[in-house]
Amino acid sequence: MDISTRTVFIAGATSGIGLALARRFAAAGSTVVVGGRRTDLLAGAAAEGFATVTVDVTDGDSVDRARDTVLRDHPGLDTVVTMSGVMIPEDLRDPAHFGAARQTVDTNLLGTIRVIDAFTPHLIARGGGTVVTVTSGIAFLPFPPMPTYAATKAAVHAYSEALRAQLDGTGVEVSELVPPAVAVTPEHARANPRALGLDAFADEVMDLLGADPTPHEILVEGVRMHRWAERDGTYDELVAQRSQALSMLPGR
Ligand SMILES: NC(=O)c1ccc[n+]([C@@H]2O[C@H](COP(=O)([O-])OP(=O)(O)OC[C@H]3O[C@@H](n4cnc5c(N)ncnc54)[C@H](OP(=O)(O)O)[C@@H]3O)[C@@H](O)[C@H]2O)c1
Repeated sequence: MDISTRTVFIAGATSGIGLALARRFAAAGSTVVVGGRRTDLLAGAAAEGFATVTVDVTDGDSVDRARDTVLRDHPGLDTVVTMSGVMIPEDLRDPAHFGAARQTVDTNLLGTIRVIDAFTPHLIARGGGTVVTVTSGIAFLPFPPMPTYAATKAAVHAYSEALRAQLDGTGVEVSELVPPAVAVTPEHARANPRALGLDAFADEVMDLLGADPTPHEILVEGVRMHRWAERDGTYDELVAQRSQALSMLPGR
């Protein structure tokens, strides 16, 4: 895609990867609407010059209101990024994890579907555009401390594939961003020294997104070992390695 001419809505751009990509799209010349729940961070984004909209992707009415606002102010919207996500550790030996599982499904999977449903008719009607979904290396190589997270990201991968097939011929393309571990805060960097730096990751993503045609999957170098572990025969060994992280769960 031409990253310099787009009108982009990013649901989940108040912080982290979403905000980093919003800044890069804007720096390249695109117009960006930043969405999320935290009003203080939305105000910060507005002060940087972004259009902003409040949206809670777990609430269908909120998503529809956000869609109406975005399309009223930006009728030429051509790109939707479903970035909103939560990442919650769960101990499956304790049924009390269910609340976290529900929140994870409602945000990461159903939230993605709500946002796509809200904007797909507009993109089809204008005869073209791009939906960027967001999964994770964990969609392809489980990280056992975050089971429902992994399940939702694998589900969004499958959903993205089906969406691409269903939208074939409409001009609307679907691209799946597959981040590896990315240090979005100093605490993340300390907790996982192997996580990619946010700036390096975002730069690599924009280079890949800028290809024509837009790749079906945005795979930075650092995620390819996860994405292709099964094909490469490293899957069992890597899952065993990653299971050592179960010690991070309280009580283990
Ligand atoms: N960082 C990583 O290592 C990594 C790796 C793989 C994939 N990812 C994925 O990348 C995406 C961004 O994560 P991040 O690491 O940048 O974390 P982050 O800084 O916590 O960003 C998460 C974003 O999602 C939004 N969000 C959460 N719940 C929402 C809701 N109910 N409604 C609307 N927005 C909601 C947050 O905005 P508000 O709180 O303001 O609503 C925030 O803007 C997520 O989908 C995550 O799963 C991250």
